[in-house]
Amino acid sequence: MTILRNIRRLYVCPMRGAQADLFPIDDAAIAYEEGRLTYVGPESALPQPRGLESVLDARRALVFPGFVECHTHLGFAGSRADEFGMRLQGASYLEIAERGGGIQRTVRATRAASDDELRSAAAHSLRAMRKQGITTVECKSGYGLSVEHEIRLLRLYQELEVTESTRIVKTFLGAHVPPPEFRGRNADYIEVIKKEMLPTIAREGLASFCDIFVEKGAFSPDDARDLLATARVYGLKGKLHIDQITDQGGGALARELGVTSADHLEHLSQAGMAALADSEVVAVALPLAGFFLRQPALAARAMIRAGIPVAVSTDFNPGSAPSHCMGLALLLSCVVQGMTAQEALKGATILAARALAVDHDRGSLEVGKYADFFLVDAPSEEAFVYEFGLHPARDVHIGGQRVSD
Ligand code: NIG
Ligand code: FE
Repeated sequence: MTILRNIRRLYVCPMRGAQADLFPIDDAAIAYEEGRLTYVGPESALPQPRGLESVLDARRALVFPGFVECHTHLGFAGSRADEFGMRLQGASYLEIAERGGGIQRTVRATRAASDDELRSAAAHSLRAMRKQGITTVECKSGYGLSVEHEIRLLRLYQELEVTESTRIVKTFLGAHVPPPEFRGRNADYIEVIKKEMLPTIAREGLASFCDIFVEKGAFSPDDARDLLATARVYGLKGKLHIDQITDQGGGALARELGVTSADHLEHLSQAGMAALADSEVVAVALPLAGFFLRQPALAARAMIRAGIPVAVSTDFNPGSAPSHCMGLALLLSCVVQGMTAQEALKGATILAARALAVDHDRGSLEVGKYADFFLVDAPSEEAFVYEFGLHPARDVHIGGQRVSD
């Protein structure tokens, strides 16, 4: 058993309570054994240890559950920094895509990259994320867009599950955009996904989720109905990229399809908000994408008031969110989207875990869950979020093992 003591304030972040309720414990300690928490509470009530291995001193730090990064497009090659320049000159994201840039360009670069290149770039990102206290990462495919290349990306994630300490959740996003070979033939491409990709993915356990980008120039709500119904037969739960650039009726569609999460939602309508509030769907705020694409702000404040759980994630990808900085996502979810620091922190821990259907074993510091946590030397949780970049995470642990240098 290992004990971590002398914690000034520990944030439990359980599912219960409002989104702002982190249930802090002052002068706390935790104990863990075989990677799981066996005690979380005040140090004064710590039971007498049996078979004590070691006692660690938190030196009055704050302790948070490891961040759960619930939406990334981790596997890709190439850079689209020049498109940033084009957008600054007035071109829109959709216009750049129509001219052969955008997602299709990353698809070309990703297909051309070697396995080693993709692997080392993804591993590098995971390492950089771990340093920030991110202990679980959702990884979407979606820059392969052919049977060969989508499966290759998912197999790469399966490999990283073994070689990296980060916990990985794999999502199949073969329906990111129709590939050039299928331009104007969405239904034919969806058939390929259904007949040639999903069976292999299910057989090899390559993904827990099936995601689809519902947008002009991508896929329609009917494509989503068709694809996610089949994915469910193969045991994959649903996710939606929706209402990012235009209103696609995302709230009602998410409720109808019973997806685990609906992500982006900057153009969610009032009716859509009511539909989400009347569902089990987690909304995922991706404030970096909104910021980089200058989208209107997600109405996070109103959503939380309506009782919708709002997770927070970076959306790390080369085109709309070229950073995996969780601190920046937290800050923007507050300043731009109207969350409080506490709400943002719950959004990046237990609610993000719920957006991945893994909240039973992570996302909060509760007995029986994984000992995934990190320490911060900040005066308060608000200072941690507000004073961006001033309070780096230290002593990041996954399953009780220290993974940060
Ligand atoms: O989450 N919305 C679609 N997909 C990504 C962007 C991908 C890209 O531009 O390469 C997103 O924003
Ligand atoms: Fe995304």
